[in-house]
Amino acid sequence: MADRCDLWGKKRNKRTIILVLALITVFVLIFTQRSREPQAPELAHSKVEKFLLKQIPYTNLSMCERRVNAGISCPDIRRQGKTLLRQAQLVLTRLLKIFDLIAKKHGITYWLYRGTLLGAVRHEGHNPFDNDVDIALPKSEFEKFVKYGVTELPKDIFFQTEVTDVHWKAPRSSGILAKLRDKSSCYKYCIENGCKHKDGLQLDLFVIENDDQGNLLEVFSHTKTNWIVRRLIYNGIILRKPDEYIFPLIQVNFDGFVLPAPREWKMILHTLYGDFMRVPENEPLGHIITDTFHSCDEVD
Ligand SMILES: *[C@@H]1O[C@H](CO)[C@@H](O)[C@H](O)[C@H]1NC(C)=O
Repeated sequence: MADRCDLWGKKRNKRTIILVLALITVFVLIFTQRSREPQAPELAHSKVEKFLLKQIPYTNLSMCERRVNAGISCPDIRRQGKTLLRQAQLVLTRLLKIFDLIAKKHGITYWLYRGTLLGAVRHEGHNPFDNDVDIALPKSEFEKFVKYGVTELPKDIFFQTEVTDVHWKAPRSSGILAKLRDKSSCYKYCIENGCKHKDGLQLDLFVIENDDQGNLLEVFSHTKTNWIVRRLIYNGIILRKPDEYIFPLIQVNFDGFVLPAPREWKMILHTLYGDFMRVPENEPLGHIITDTFHSCDEVD
């Protein structure tokens, strides 16, 4: 070491150290600036963007509404979809909007949930990786739907519960107590897994239980930690009950329609999916093996 000091000279050595320190500082600054930039959705020229650009909203293709003094008018428009995925989505949007029309008539409170909520926020429609739709509603509202809503469903939609379909078991601890099933398609889950229940394209109804005081319980039923812990992890300090981050509901766009969503969608999606505005780039678009034109009986 002594040799080197002699060789470089004291002044020169000092200058080099300052230069190196300055360089390190600049690198650190650039790096931290970069990581601080907000993560905008990376859509540019991706498969996802191309898929979404081609998408014509449901409402541009057809209407789905309740006519005064008449029933629900909502034609089946799946044939207008140019891809298998879009055909499936047109079926799903129809299921969702029909549920919405029935809910409106009977004052049934519900909201978009999980992947469908994410799709609404990120794409104003379906998440291109999904081929089902999810909604959530409190137990009391679900019971209202069973009592007054189900009879209003068009003939081509099946209301699936453990009662209406003896082969179907509500998935344990998921909160799904029922599904709306399109009768004219085959999702093919049973063909792959050897089950016997009705298996058309589906809308999942996540039913949220109430506690003794009528408060909603545990909205994120899939994840392991409880909501208090996750609220703390998110940006906690203020602890609130699920009711307070669901209500009052807000309105979001979905495939051309305006549908209800929880007030604190941002917190909910962040808890469920983390950096939810970032579109996974390498994931293939929804893997559809669904037959969108034949029921499972016809496919068999
Ligand atoms: C859908 O309809 C709206 C309103 O009429 C229009 O502004 C929009 O350009 C249409 N979108 C497509 C993709 O056709």
